[in-house]
Amino acid sequence: MSEYNQEKLTQDVLAAFAGTPDPRLRQLMTALVKHVHAFAREVDLTSEEWLAGTKFLDATGQISTERRPEFILLSDTLGLSMMVVSLAQARASGNAKGATEATEATVEGPFYWPGAPDMPLGSDIAEGIPGEPAFYMGRVTDLDGKPLAGALLDVWSGDGDGKYDVQLSDTPTMRARGRFRTDAEGRYWFWSIRPTYYPIPDDGPVGAMMRATARSINRPGHIHMQVSAPGHVMLTTHVFVGNSPFLHEDAVFGKRDSLVVDFDAHPPGKAVDGREMKKPYHSASFDFRLAPTPA
Ligand code: BEZ
Ligand code: FE
Repeated sequence: MSEYNQEKLTQDVLAAFAGTPDPRLRQLMTALVKHVHAFAREVDLTSEEWLAGTKFLDATGQISTERRPEFILLSDTLGLSMMVVSLAQARASGNAKGATEATEATVEGPFYWPGAPDMPLGSDIAEGIPGEPAFYMGRVTDLDGKPLAGALLDVWSGDGDGKYDVQLSDTPTMRARGRFRTDAEGRYWFWSIRPTYYPIPDDGPVGAMMRATARSINRPGHIHMQVSAPGHVMLTTHVFVGNSPFLHEDAVFGKRDSLVVDFDAHPPGKAVDGREMKKPYHSASFDFRLAPTPA
């Protein structure tokens, strides 16, 4: 096909979508066609490569279940999920460049499980699970530093072996999850374990892609938090462990420097909340700043 005909093909396809009634869908489909055609032309895509690509997408669909969303993992490992997170946060803060005074957001990941138990401040969400104990504390405020009382923290974590409850069986029992409400000064505190780095699920097509491209499949240690308060934009983020391996090669590009926290090491003894610790433990302090809901 001559270059002229390639260009005409692209124009014909665009014209076919031109009557899409929903303007946003029309915009999305038009841009998609332009970029996909430009991609094929840029790399001079062969029939074999095109077929391999379709088989890869078939396999991605075939392995996917509600608990195993392989397409989301593909999006995560291509950095698309983080791009969408960044765009959403920029949009909510009215700042198109992505900079924000609110705590930075990061990927939700596949292991969020709604309905974690409500727990009193100071509870241990990780009782009896492998890992070194860690005390978490901080405040939830608005962008002016005003405490947000009654803000909800929905917390989830892998264990000290890097495993989430949902990965341990087909009929998992919830663990290392809990929901906390900040006190009158916007403070929160609870116990869990210090999370360790762990590999993303790599027994499917995304894992094959990561191996073929010699990429690290690991995520640095982190604990997930979803923080919400009335009148404010809900924040989905992580707190990353300061000296964790793979901080500089997060497989899903979710690490943000502003979310990395030093975990202090403590000998056995009385912790700041008065709990008597029989073994060494860690502590981490992190404050969350929520943006107001756009008017
Ligand atoms: C996670 O942090 O739980 C996660 C995020 C993206 C892909 C895999 C795991
Ligand atoms: Fe995680």
